[in-house]
Amino acid sequence: MKVLRSPKIFQALMDRERGRARTLGFVPTMGALHEGHASLVRRAKKENDLAAVSIFVNPLQFGPKEDFSRYPRTLAADMAVLRKAGADYLFVPKAEDFYPQGFQTSVRVGREGVSGLTRGLCASARPGHFEGVATVVTKLLNLSKAHRAYFGAKDFQQAALIERLVEDLSLDIQIRVCPTVREADGLAMSSRNRYLNSEERSRALALPRALSALKRALEEGRPLGKTLRSARRSLEAGADRVDYLEIVDPGTLEPLKRPRALMTAAAACRFGKTRLIDNVSIRISQTRRK
Ligand code: PAJ
Repeated sequence: MKVLRSPKIFQALMDRERGRARTLGFVPTMGALHEGHASLVRRAKKENDLAAVSIFVNPLQFGPKEDFSRYPRTLAADMAVLRKAGADYLFVPKAEDFYPQGFQTSVRVGREGVSGLTRGLCASARPGHFEGVATVVTKLLNLSKAHRAYFGAKDFQQAALIERLVEDLSLDIQIRVCPTVREADGLAMSSRNRYLNSEERSRALALPRALSALKRALEEGRPLGKTLRSARRSLEAGADRVDYLEIVDPGTLEPLKRPRALMTAAAACRFGKTRLIDNVSIRISQTRRK
Protein backbone atom coordinates (compact mmCIF):
# COMPACT_ATOMS: atom_id res chain seq x y z
CA MET A 1 0.00 0.00 0.00
CA LYS A 2 1.45 3.34 -1.07
CA VAL A 3 0.97 6.23 1.37
CA LEU A 4 0.71 9.80 0.05
CA ARG A 5 0.59 13.07 1.92
CA SER A 6 0.57 15.65 -0.83
CA PRO A 7 -2.79 16.40 -2.53
CA LYS A 8 -1.03 17.24 -5.80
CA ILE A 9 0.99 14.03 -5.87
CA PHE A 10 -2.05 11.93 -4.93
CA GLN A 11 -4.04 13.50 -7.77
CA ALA A 12 -1.20 13.05 -10.27
CA LEU A 13 -0.79 9.38 -9.33
CA MET A 14 -4.51 8.68 -9.60
CA ASP A 15 -4.51 10.42 -12.96
CA ARG A 16 -1.68 8.20 -14.13
CA GLU A 17 -3.50 5.04 -13.01
CA ARG A 18 -6.62 6.20 -14.85
CA GLY A 19 -4.51 6.83 -17.93
CA ARG A 20 -3.34 3.21 -17.76
CA ALA A 21 -7.00 2.23 -18.08
CA ARG A 22 -7.22 1.00 -14.53
CA THR A 23 -10.55 1.44 -12.74
CA LEU A 24 -10.29 3.21 -9.41
CA GLY A 25 -12.50 2.84 -6.35
CA PHE A 26 -12.21 5.44 -3.60
CA VAL A 27 -13.23 5.35 0.07
CA PRO A 28 -13.02 8.64 2.00
CA THR A 29 -12.77 8.26 5.79
CA MET A 30 -11.72 10.11 8.92
CA GLY A 31 -9.73 7.15 10.25
CA ALA A 32 -10.21 5.23 13.53
CA LEU A 33 -11.11 2.47 11.12
CA HIS A 34 -13.34 -0.48 11.94
CA GLU A 35 -15.01 -3.33 10.08
CA GLY A 36 -17.59 -0.91 8.58
CA HIS A 37 -14.80 0.99 6.82
CA ALA A 38 -13.05 -2.26 5.87
CA SER A 39 -16.22 -3.51 4.18
CA LEU A 40 -16.22 -0.41 1.94
CA VAL A 41 -12.57 -0.96 1.00
CA ARG A 42 -13.17 -4.62 0.16
CA ARG A 43 -16.12 -3.66 -2.02
CA ALA A 44 -14.05 -0.93 -3.74
CA LYS A 45 -11.32 -3.47 -4.45
CA LYS A 46 -13.79 -6.07 -5.72
CA GLU A 47 -15.44 -3.69 -8.17
CA ASN A 48 -12.29 -1.90 -9.39
CA ASP A 49 -8.69 -2.67 -10.32
CA LEU A 50 -7.40 -0.42 -7.53
CA ALA A 51 -8.73 0.85 -4.22
CA ALA A 52 -7.67 4.20 -2.74
CA VAL A 53 -8.60 5.37 0.75
CA SER A 54 -8.27 8.76 2.39
CA ILE A 55 -7.92 9.48 6.09
CA PHE A 56 -8.55 13.09 6.95
CA VAL A 57 -10.24 14.45 10.06
CA ASN A 58 -11.92 17.35 8.33
CA PRO A 59 -12.02 20.43 10.58
CA LEU A 60 -14.78 22.03 8.46
CA GLN A 61 -17.40 19.49 9.46
CA PHE A 62 -16.99 19.85 13.23
CA GLY A 63 -18.84 22.49 15.22
CA PRO A 64 -16.96 24.60 17.79
CA LYS A 65 -18.23 22.45 20.67
CA GLU A 66 -17.75 19.13 18.91
CA ASP A 67 -15.05 16.49 19.21
CA PHE A 68 -12.55 17.58 16.50
CA SER A 69 -9.55 17.76 18.82
CA ARG A 70 -10.30 14.49 20.59
CA TYR A 71 -11.46 12.56 17.51
CA PRO A 72 -9.43 9.30 17.62
CA ARG A 73 -6.31 9.33 15.44
CA THR A 74 -4.96 5.80 15.08
CA LEU A 75 -2.92 5.80 11.88
CA ALA A 76 -0.75 2.74 12.56
CA ALA A 77 -3.74 0.53 13.37
CA ASP A 78 -5.67 2.02 10.43
CA MET A 79 -2.87 1.10 8.02
CA ALA A 80 -3.01 -2.51 9.20
CA VAL A 81 -6.79 -2.60 8.62
CA LEU A 82 -6.34 -1.13 5.13
CA ARG A 83 -3.56 -3.51 4.10
CA LYS A 84 -5.71 -6.44 5.16
CA ALA A 85 -8.73 -5.09 3.28
CA GLY A 86 -6.64 -4.75 0.09
CA ALA A 87 -6.17 -0.98 -0.26
CA ASP A 88 -3.55 0.05 -2.84
CA TYR A 89 -3.25 3.74 -1.99
CA LEU A 90 -3.72 5.71 1.21
CA PHE A 91 -4.01 9.48 1.07
CA VAL A 92 -3.37 11.19 4.43
CA PRO A 93 -3.14 14.95 3.82
CA LYS A 94 -2.14 17.52 6.39
CA ALA A 95 -4.85 20.12 7.02
CA GLU A 96 -2.58 22.98 5.93
CA ASP A 97 -1.88 21.30 2.57
CA PHE A 98 -5.49 20.31 2.03
CA TYR A 99 -6.89 23.76 2.87
CA PRO A 100 -4.00 26.06 2.00
CA GLN A 101 -3.98 29.71 3.04
CA GLY A 102 -6.63 31.62 1.20
CA PHE A 103 -9.02 28.67 0.87
CA GLN A 104 -12.54 30.12 0.88
CA THR A 105 -14.81 27.99 -1.28
CA SER A 106 -17.74 26.12 0.17
CA VAL A 107 -20.19 23.61 -1.28
CA ARG A 108 -23.72 23.87 0.07
CA VAL A 109 -26.41 21.40 -0.89
CA GLY A 110 -29.98 22.64 -0.56
CA ARG A 111 -31.32 26.09 -1.14
CA GLU A 112 -33.29 27.88 1.56
CA GLY A 113 -36.68 26.25 1.92
CA VAL A 114 -36.01 23.78 -0.87
CA SER A 115 -34.31 20.77 0.58
CA GLY A 116 -35.05 18.40 3.42
CA LEU A 117 -31.60 16.94 2.73
CA THR A 118 -29.79 19.62 4.69
CA ARG A 119 -32.58 20.95 6.88
CA GLY A 120 -33.90 18.19 9.14
CA LEU A 121 -32.38 15.27 11.05
CA CYS A 122 -28.66 15.81 11.81
CA ALA A 123 -28.60 19.24 10.16
CA SER A 124 -30.61 20.77 13.03
CA ALA A 125 -28.24 19.62 15.78
CA ARG A 126 -25.07 20.22 13.72
CA PRO A 127 -25.27 23.56 11.90
CA GLY A 128 -22.61 23.85 9.18
CA HIS A 129 -21.77 20.14 9.38
CA PHE A 130 -23.12 19.13 5.99
CA GLU A 131 -21.58 22.12 4.25
CA GLY A 132 -18.23 20.95 5.66
CA VAL A 133 -18.92 17.41 4.45
CA ALA A 134 -20.04 18.53 0.97
CA THR A 135 -16.95 20.73 0.60
CA VAL A 136 -14.42 18.10 1.66
CA VAL A 137 -16.08 15.31 -0.32
CA THR A 138 -16.22 17.39 -3.52
CA LYS A 139 -12.52 18.13 -3.17
CA LEU A 140 -11.59 14.54 -2.27
CA LEU A 141 -13.57 13.14 -5.21
CA ASN A 142 -11.79 15.54 -7.55
CA LEU A 143 -8.41 14.61 -6.16
CA SER A 144 -9.10 10.87 -6.34
CA LYS A 145 -10.03 10.81 -10.03
CA ALA A 146 -11.91 7.64 -9.08
CA HIS A 147 -14.55 5.94 -11.19
CA ARG A 148 -16.55 4.92 -8.12
CA ALA A 149 -16.70 6.15 -4.53
CA TYR A 150 -18.04 4.13 -1.59
CA PHE A 151 -20.08 5.42 1.35
CA GLY A 152 -21.90 3.73 4.23
CA ALA A 153 -25.67 3.67 4.66
CA LYS A 154 -25.06 4.27 8.37
CA ASP A 155 -24.61 7.96 7.54
CA PHE A 156 -27.64 7.95 5.29
CA GLN A 157 -28.24 11.72 5.27
CA GLN A 158 -24.60 12.21 4.27
CA ALA A 159 -24.95 9.58 1.52
CA ALA A 160 -28.15 11.18 0.19
CA LEU A 161 -26.49 14.58 0.12
CA ILE A 162 -23.43 13.25 -1.71
CA GLU A 163 -25.58 11.51 -4.33
CA ARG A 164 -27.41 14.80 -4.82
CA LEU A 165 -24.29 16.92 -5.17
CA VAL A 166 -22.65 14.49 -7.60
CA GLU A 167 -25.74 14.67 -9.78
CA ASP A 168 -26.23 18.43 -9.42
CA LEU A 169 -22.61 19.27 -10.24
CA SER A 170 -22.26 16.52 -12.90
CA LEU A 171 -19.24 15.05 -11.13
CA ASP A 172 -17.86 12.19 -13.20
CA ILE A 173 -18.04 9.48 -10.55
CA GLN A 174 -20.47 6.78 -9.45
CA ILE A 175 -21.58 6.73 -5.83
CA ARG A 176 -22.14 3.37 -4.14
CA VAL A 177 -23.94 3.26 -0.80
CA CYS A 178 -23.12 0.09 1.15
CA PRO A 179 -24.91 -1.64 4.05
CA THR A 180 -24.30 -0.76 7.70
CA VAL A 181 -21.97 -3.16 9.48
CA ARG A 182 -23.00 -3.91 13.07
CA GLU A 183 -21.47 -5.43 16.19
CA ALA A 184 -22.83 -8.88 17.10
CA ASP A 185 -25.34 -7.30 19.52
CA GLY A 186 -26.72 -4.91 16.87
CA LEU A 187 -24.91 -1.64 17.63
CA ALA A 188 -23.83 0.01 14.37
CA MET A 189 -20.04 0.22 14.17
CA SER A 190 -18.75 3.75 14.57
CA SER A 191 -15.43 5.40 15.33
CA ARG A 192 -17.25 7.17 18.16
CA ASN A 193 -18.25 3.91 19.91
CA ARG A 194 -14.83 3.92 21.55
CA TYR A 195 -15.86 7.00 23.58
CA LEU A 196 -18.52 4.96 25.41
CA ASN A 197 -17.81 3.60 28.90
CA SER A 198 -19.19 0.13 29.63
CA GLU A 199 -22.39 1.42 31.19
CA GLU A 200 -23.05 3.70 28.20
CA ARG A 201 -22.10 0.91 25.80
CA SER A 202 -24.83 -1.34 27.17
CA ARG A 203 -27.43 1.46 27.18
CA ALA A 204 -26.46 2.31 23.59
CA LEU A 205 -28.30 -0.82 22.47
CA ALA A 206 -31.50 1.18 23.01
CA LEU A 207 -30.73 2.83 19.64
CA PRO A 208 -30.69 -0.24 17.33
CA ARG A 209 -33.43 -1.83 19.44
CA ALA A 210 -35.80 1.14 19.07
CA LEU A 211 -35.18 1.18 15.31
CA SER A 212 -35.67 -2.54 14.81
CA ALA A 213 -38.84 -2.55 16.97
CA LEU A 214 -40.15 0.31 14.84
CA LYS A 215 -39.30 -1.54 11.64
CA ARG A 216 -40.97 -4.73 12.84
CA ALA A 217 -44.14 -2.96 13.99
CA LEU A 218 -44.55 -1.00 10.76
CA GLU A 219 -43.84 -4.06 8.63
CA GLU A 220 -46.60 -5.83 10.59
CA GLY A 221 -48.97 -3.03 9.57
CA ARG A 222 -49.20 -1.03 12.81
CA PRO A 223 -50.16 2.69 12.50
CA LEU A 224 -47.26 5.06 11.98
CA GLY A 225 -47.98 7.83 14.51
CA LYS A 226 -48.59 5.61 17.52
CA THR A 227 -45.70 3.28 16.71
CA LEU A 228 -43.31 6.19 16.33
CA ARG A 229 -44.38 7.70 19.65
CA SER A 230 -43.84 4.44 21.47
CA ALA A 231 -40.39 3.94 19.84
CA ARG A 232 -39.45 7.49 20.92
CA ARG A 233 -40.47 6.71 24.49
CA SER A 234 -38.34 3.57 24.60
CA LEU A 235 -35.34 5.41 23.12
CA GLU A 236 -35.78 8.25 25.63
CA ALA A 237 -35.76 5.70 28.44
CA GLY A 238 -32.31 4.38 27.38
CA ALA A 239 -30.55 7.48 26.05
CA ASP A 240 -29.43 10.63 27.87
CA ARG A 241 -30.85 12.80 25.12
CA VAL A 242 -32.70 12.08 21.91
CA ASP A 243 -31.90 14.54 19.10
CA TYR A 244 -34.47 12.94 16.80
CA LEU A 245 -36.23 9.74 15.86
CA GLU A 246 -38.06 10.16 12.56
CA ILE A 247 -39.55 8.20 9.74
CA VAL A 248 -38.62 9.83 6.47
CA ASP A 249 -38.83 9.45 2.74
CA PRO A 250 -35.45 7.92 1.79
CA GLY A 251 -35.14 10.17 -1.27
CA THR A 252 -36.14 13.58 0.07
CA LEU A 253 -35.62 12.91 3.81
CA GLU A 254 -38.93 14.64 4.54
CA PRO A 255 -40.69 13.24 7.65
CA LEU A 256 -43.67 11.04 6.79
CA LYS A 257 -47.10 11.18 8.41
CA ARG A 258 -48.46 8.18 6.54
CA PRO A 259 -46.68 4.93 5.66
CA ARG A 260 -45.13 4.44 2.22
CA ALA A 261 -43.85 1.31 0.54
CA LEU A 262 -40.28 2.36 1.31
CA MET A 263 -39.29 4.43 4.34
CA THR A 264 -36.25 5.05 6.51
CA ALA A 265 -36.37 5.25 10.28
CA ALA A 266 -33.45 7.36 11.49
CA ALA A 267 -32.33 8.45 14.92
CA ALA A 268 -29.60 10.37 16.72
CA CYS A 269 -29.16 10.35 20.45
CA ARG A 270 -26.59 10.79 23.17
CA PHE A 271 -25.15 8.38 25.70
CA GLY A 272 -23.12 10.48 28.10
CA LYS A 273 -21.37 12.98 25.82
CA THR A 274 -21.28 10.65 22.84
CA ARG A 275 -23.68 11.28 19.99
CA LEU A 276 -24.58 8.21 17.95
CA ILE A 277 -26.68 7.88 14.81
CA ASP A 278 -28.32 4.91 13.15
CA ASN A 279 -31.07 4.09 10.67
CA VAL A 280 -32.96 1.18 9.14
CA SER A 281 -34.93 0.93 5.96
CA ILE A 282 -38.51 -0.26 6.13
CA ARG A 283 -40.43 -1.92 3.34
CA ILE A 284 -44.16 -2.58 3.60
CA SER A 285 -46.63 -4.06 1.20
CA GLN A 286 -49.61 -2.04 -0.15
CA THR A 287 -52.17 -3.96 1.90
CA ARG A 288 -50.47 -3.18 5.20
CA ARG A 289 -50.24 0.61 4.89
CA LYS A 290 -52.29 2.44 7.51
P1 PAJ B 1 -16.20 8.31 8.68
O1 PAJ B 1 -17.13 8.50 9.82
O2 PAJ B 1 -14.79 7.86 8.95
O3 PAJ B 1 -16.86 7.26 7.70
C1 PAJ B 1 -16.26 6.95 6.47
C2 PAJ B 1 -17.25 6.09 5.68
O4 PAJ B 1 -17.49 4.88 6.38
C3 PAJ B 1 -18.61 6.81 5.53
O5 PAJ B 1 -19.10 6.62 4.20
C4 PAJ B 1 -19.47 6.09 6.55
O6 PAJ B 1 -20.85 6.08 6.22
C5 PAJ B 1 -18.89 4.68 6.49
N1 PAJ B 1 -19.22 3.93 7.70
C6 PAJ B 1 -19.08 4.33 8.99
N2 PAJ B 1 -19.56 3.39 9.83
C7 PAJ B 1 -20.02 2.37 9.05
C8 PAJ B 1 -20.65 1.11 9.32
N3 PAJ B 1 -20.90 0.70 10.56
N4 PAJ B 1 -21.00 0.33 8.27
C9 PAJ B 1 -20.76 0.75 6.99
N5 PAJ B 1 -20.17 1.91 6.67
C10 PAJ B 1 -19.81 2.71 7.68
O7 PAJ B 1 -18.25 9.82 7.15
C11 PAJ B 1 -17.14 10.33 7.27
O8 PAJ B 1 -16.07 9.67 7.82
C12 PAJ B 1 -16.83 11.73 6.79
O9 PAJ B 1 -17.96 12.54 6.93
C13 PAJ B 1 -16.30 11.79 5.34
C14 PAJ B 1 -17.31 11.26 4.31
C15 PAJ B 1 -14.97 11.01 5.22
C16 PAJ B 1 -16.00 13.28 4.97
O10 PAJ B 1 -15.09 13.84 5.86
